[in-house]
Amino acid sequence: MPDTTYDVVIIGGGPGGYNAAIRAGQLGLKAACVEMRGTLGGTCLNVGCMPSKALLHASELYAAAGSEFAKLGIEVTPKLNLPQMMAQKDESVTALTKGIEFLFKKNKVDWVKGAGRIAGPGKVEVLDADGKVTGTLSARDIVVATGSEPSSLPGVTVDQKRIVDSTGALALPEVPGHLVVIGAGIIGLELGSVWRRLGAKVTVVEFLDRITPGVDAEVAKTFQRALTKQGIAFKLGMKVTGATASKTGVSLAFEPVAGGAAETLDADYVLLAIGRRPYTQGLGLETVGIETDKRGFIATDHWKTSAPGVWAIGDVTHGPMLAHKAEEEAVACIERLAGKAGHVSYGVIPGVIYTTPEVAWVGKTEEELKAEGRAYKVGKFPFTANSRAKINHETEGFAKILADAATDEILGAHLIGPSVSEMIGECCVAMEFRAASEDIARTCHPHPTRSEAVRQASMGVEGWTMQA
Ligand code: FAD
Ligand code: NAI
Repeated sequence: MPDTTYDVVIIGGGPGGYNAAIRAGQLGLKAACVEMRGTLGGTCLNVGCMPSKALLHASELYAAAGSEFAKLGIEVTPKLNLPQMMAQKDESVTALTKGIEFLFKKNKVDWVKGAGRIAGPGKVEVLDADGKVTGTLSARDIVVATGSEPSSLPGVTVDQKRIVDSTGALALPEVPGHLVVIGAGIIGLELGSVWRRLGAKVTVVEFLDRITPGVDAEVAKTFQRALTKQGIAFKLGMKVTGATASKTGVSLAFEPVAGGAAETLDADYVLLAIGRRPYTQGLGLETVGIETDKRGFIATDHWKTSAPGVWAIGDVTHGPMLAHKAEEEAVACIERLAGKAGHVSYGVIPGVIYTTPEVAWVGKTEEELKAEGRAYKVGKFPFTANSRAKINHETEGFAKILADAATDEILGAHLIGPSVSEMIGECCVAMEFRAASEDIARTCHPHPTRSEAVRQASMGVEGWTMQA
């Protein structure tokens, strides 16, 4: 083990931990990152954002080749090679995790392999896979970035064979005849889309009477309609009561939340995707007097925990469980402990669902503004009227801009349609600068691009949308 005295020791090497380590190195701090997984990158690179996006991309092309190419004058009969699809995903993941190793070297960060356990103020023990202490690190500051794990559901035991969580669903050995997804959230709909496109029948069972809670209701409705058209079936307002797995399949029992007759569904595989919970197992928080809240999160005040010199960032703390939120907090936290003024704009953290159509949003939804009693104006523009979307036969969805009725400040942007994941950044920049909708409406956008939909929607706030 290298010299064991550090300015900062970071526990966890995901987007929170690795970005904290890199920023610490950039600022000249002597930094170590303790990561127990065999590779850096955390959930995001290994079993989250990146492998899911690899399969979403490949499956989207496969589905397009089978259904849309012909109308463009390209006649092919695609044949699925699932092992190759999985192999290219794994290769990309490996390249990305190696990239973080390179960035650690570049910024003089030590990757200490093993599990980190806080052993009192300024002390982190490192344990091997058998739980044996292999070393002790001293640190002026400790940053906890241990992330999260899938939430469990009583009666539904994940065996990663027939009943899988997201990690299992990223590596199924075959296309299921019938995949039943529990939870109509982001994981359920992204991974449900992957397997639907590859040929599975997909049924989503959701507790609430809507999909994607938290997403603007009008967007969620349009989204559900689009997914239904693609063949995904929804059973909303249903409470799962149990799942019985056999060697060849699963029988899932559920009943209406509002009361009524119980039902069962036979599936080849069940994906449990009902949220994630913070991961703090074996972390030694008690040695510095940190208590987690009822749901297991570490509370912080600007990333500072209740224990002096101990900070927490990413999924293990409150806020959206997103890689870019973890990254923002990593930078701000390290800048603060280095004596600078770290800042995160929690009101400007975008969300994206990488399905077809894509869904992207930032800021307040209409429901939130109504609940606040805030007067707002709406500008909306459909992709059916956007020339680039039309020419590409991708006209599903719309862009919606919400602005303060009195000041015209943009309060929210809600997009559903083609490539909106790449368009939401523009709205984030505008909101960071506290732009008015008129600022976007009067900014020249390239033609023909889908981004013109955001401009036309912004024009709509003042009632002068020109192209619809
Ligand atoms: P993590 O990435 O979970 O990293 C924590 C790391 O700490 C892990 O590597 C773990 O092994 C390690 N660790 C834990 N305890 C210890 C210990 N005691 N000692 C040493 N190491 C320890 N977010 C997005 O923004 N965009 C997406 O497209 C997206 N897609 C996702 C898809 C899926 C299927 C999933 C599951 C998640 C997705 N997410 C996405 C969420 C994203 O992965 C997380 O928000 C993000 O990884 C959180 O970063 P983190 O650093 O807080 O934690
Ligand atoms: P989620 O919070 O997005 O959705 C969970 C869904 O399950 C909700 O609709 C909820 O109402 C439902 N649910 C909860 N309990 C249930 C029950 N007992 N029965 C049926 N339904 C139930 O959580 P998900 O999809 O597991 O994803 C976890 C997190 O990972 C997300 O919150 C997100 O932060 C992150 N993620 C982000 C992605 C992205 O940015 N594109 C992609 C995938 C994950």
